[in-house]
Amino acid sequence: MSPLSITRTLPADATAAALRADVTRGLTSTPKQLPPKWFYDARGSELFEEITRLPEYYPTRAEREILLTRADHIAAATGARTLVELGSGSSDKTRHLLGALSELHTYVPVDVSESALAAAGEALLTEHPGLTVHALVADFQRGLTLPDSPGPRLLAFLGGTVGNLLPEERSAFLRSVHDMLSPGDALLLGTDLVKDEATLVAAYDDERGVTAEFNKNVLHVINRELGGDFDPDDFDHVAVWNAEREWIEMRLRARKELTAKIPGVDLAVPFAAGEELRTEISAKFREDGVRAELAAAGLELTQWWTDSAERFALSLSVRG
Ligand code: AVJ
Repeated sequence: MSPLSITRTLPADATAAALRADVTRGLTSTPKQLPPKWFYDARGSELFEEITRLPEYYPTRAEREILLTRADHIAAATGARTLVELGSGSSDKTRHLLGALSELHTYVPVDVSESALAAAGEALLTEHPGLTVHALVADFQRGLTLPDSPGPRLLAFLGGTVGNLLPEERSAFLRSVHDMLSPGDALLLGTDLVKDEATLVAAYDDERGVTAEFNKNVLHVINRELGGDFDPDDFDHVAVWNAEREWIEMRLRARKELTAKIPGVDLAVPFAAGEELRTEISAKFREDGVRAELAAAGLELTQWWTDSAERFALSLSVRG
């Protein structure tokens, strides 16, 4: 078998059906909301990469600092022979780990984007010729069947993306992670941390307006995929800190009363002037909260590392 294989666990039309279901449910509910996964078409993924380079957006740099300083420790603590990475995208962050995991046999990148997986897989094989890469095109929220590969396994979910799940989605997700792991396997989880409101809001409402573009991209996706007639200029980008839930909310606020037609789902969606559509939550965490959520899923937190400015954390946990 070739050292690079790609397995599709999503039917070819699953994405289109899921988008229709999310748009129908989200735009007919009060308040209006959409899941953040629909930001990430090719343009949205580019905009996200641009966000990670903004001076205000600290999480990517903070997480990289931890990965660079702790990779050897992670390798020694896990002895991983298989690395599974959920939402691997370009596999950029993984490079720091791959270099350190001396026992590694198989890398399993998991993403909804087949093109991202193919490109990242090819690049990694050039750098690590002995590695087996078994890419999975899958939606990790729908449960995964991992390929047969040698243990122990290290499952990595980086970038703070776990914070984009609602609390109920998060506990279901952590449960499914528990179910994927065998005793002796480990989870490496990236979580952004609670900090002062000004720093948080600036990270999601940057000076140059890149995050605003990224937020509005979901309207372009609906227009293209479902024949919608949204004019993104009719909406303002809003980022607010919800102090009670400890999460950032991104919203799109209608500048005037309007009705958007979306033929692909047979909808005419009325917006009042000033009405907001929630497009993302990005939860921020504390060590005790992360430990408790992991414990509730049957996972025991064994290591907690932050960057030097204590903005972001990586935790290592094991199936208890
Ligand atoms: C890195 C995907 C978790 O919530 O910070 C960046 C996405 N949204 N700016 C985050 C995002 C707005 C991001 N994730």
